[in-house]
Amino acid sequence: MSIISKDISKAVSLLNAEDIVAIPTETVYGLAGNIYSEKAINSIFKTKQRPFFNPLIVHIPSLDYLEKIVEHVPKKAELLANAFWPGPMTLVLKKKNTIPDVITAKKDTVAVRVPNHPLTLELLKQLDFPLAAPSANPFSSISPTTAEHVEAYFKNTIKMVLDGGACKSGIESTIIGFENNQPIIYRLGSTPLEAIEEVVGKIEIKNSSADLNQSPGKVQPNAPGMLERHYAPKTKTILTDNLKEEIEKNIGKRIGLLVYSDIFDENYVAFKFVLSKEKNLQEAASKLYDALHQLDKQDLDIIIAEKFPDEGLGKSINDRLSRATKD
Ligand code: TXA
Ligand code: MG
Repeated sequence: MSIISKDISKAVSLLNAEDIVAIPTETVYGLAGNIYSEKAINSIFKTKQRPFFNPLIVHIPSLDYLEKIVEHVPKKAELLANAFWPGPMTLVLKKKNTIPDVITAKKDTVAVRVPNHPLTLELLKQLDFPLAAPSANPFSSISPTTAEHVEAYFKNTIKMVLDGGACKSGIESTIIGFENNQPIIYRLGSTPLEAIEEVVGKIEIKNSSADLNQSPGKVQPNAPGMLERHYAPKTKTILTDNLKEEIEKNIGKRIGLLVYSDIFDENYVAFKFVLSKEKNLQEAASKLYDALHQLDKQDLDIIIAEKFPDEGLGKSINDRLSRATKD
């Protein structure tokens, strides 16, 4: 029997009973539990096979709720929350003592956001507690953007996926931390860099994939999840700005192509996924993980992915694709 359901009241009962439920957000599906329940939080880590050093994001119903979670809100955090919540932006702020250590991996900061999905906002309003929710995929696998992706991963280990359709943004939230009250991007994501800079001015990026490439293994991660091989198909994947050359190098193999919009010469290609015929970055981002899920099922020898323009959501897409290429 399918674990996919639209029944919010069922999700409420399970969560009140300290169980976990997969929930839709505008970015990716999350695996959610009561932040104050040790039992629920342990099941999240166990189900995902996630190491405990990797802290979770706390999902709250509204900006007003923030004061129950954090000690102090820097001026620029307030500006960002006002501009982007509900939405795909996570703020890392000084935590209140009441936030359990297991949520934050013993850090004195907590990651928090108001997700922009009507079903999950309604769910949060019906609960007396916020929801911790990492992406609903096994550790290091591709994030899920449909209820069916989650079901394929966890049909034997969880009781319910709350069905909210396909995620509109399609890549994870942008994570912003604060050092000396100044914002710093810890993870590129669905809120584009340029939109953030319009609100708070020029902003530094730490732990972009570029940082990781320069000194692999040496960077102390600000968002600990970011050092892992992540968002990764099982098929060997490469990212290139010269598709033709890479295809030629791999003739004879079963090649899968992941391209932005170009209708490319397909002679040597077994499977091709075009992310946006109209060259719309938003559309491309929303389809990215579904494309990787589909490519991974085609029994390919190699996935050749086209590098995106280095602007707006293109930067975030390139970040995810470059992580998908790591062995
Ligand atoms: O879009 C999203 O953010 C999705 C949806 C479900 O909300 N969630 C998500 O969660 O991507 P997850 O667990 O896959 O990624 C959370 C990231 C990790 O890289 C983690 O290290 C970082 O947030 N993080 C959590 N708490 C942190 C903290 N206190 N300081 C720094 N990074 C933190
Ligand atoms: Mg994740």
